[in-house]
Amino acid sequence: RVACLQGRFHAYEGYDPSILALPVRALQAAGCETLILTCAAGSLQEEMRPGSLMLVTDHINWSGVSPLVGPNDERVGPRFVDLSRAYDPALQVIARIAANESGIELHEGVYIWCLGPNFETPAEIRAFHMLGADAVGMSTVPECLAAVHCGLRVMAIAVMVNLAAGMQANLSHVDTLAIGREVVPQLGMLLETVMTHLVRDA
Ligand code: HPA
Repeated sequence: RVACLQGRFHAYEGYDPSILALPVRALQAAGCETLILTCAAGSLQEEMRPGSLMLVTDHINWSGVSPLVGPNDERVGPRFVDLSRAYDPALQVIARIAANESGIELHEGVYIWCLGPNFETPAEIRAFHMLGADAVGMSTVPECLAAVHCGLRVMAIAVMVNLAAGMQANLSHVDTLAIGREVVPQLGMLLETVMTHLVRDA
């Protein structure tokens, strides 16, 4: 059985970061064991063009906040969460197999979480590139943190909707939405194939 959430809270909307954990914990409480996150992101790799899909293999939390700040409820998860394998290696294998079977090119890389709501400066993007980031966005990491904390397995797929600041002439939210919409069928097919494997392997 699959539960599907449409939309998400973003820290830049002004919520207390702990709020960002609630939908994930609700899914866990409802019996979910695996969380598949999707997001739009800016690409820091020229060859990862807008419209590409990227499997998130790791992340950098550049936001300075975490949904896990505050008193820890030990019934939910531990105080100090191990993020050594935040993006489940077995799920990454499934994502690669599913992409291969669906004939979809799936890039891989590190996602860096910025608070937003502004897009980044070109100087920030150059710095993030040196830090090892491949894609930049304003979501996904808080949900991953909440999920790993409460024991969910996590997979994340980022849709590149622009080249990051300084790598293309300018950034517009309207343009990123249009690119995002174009990729929906591909992403849908990939997720469907991933879920077929999850059911088969369960
Ligand atoms: N930066 C941050 N978040 C984003 C971007 C970006 O370039 N594109 C889509 N979400």
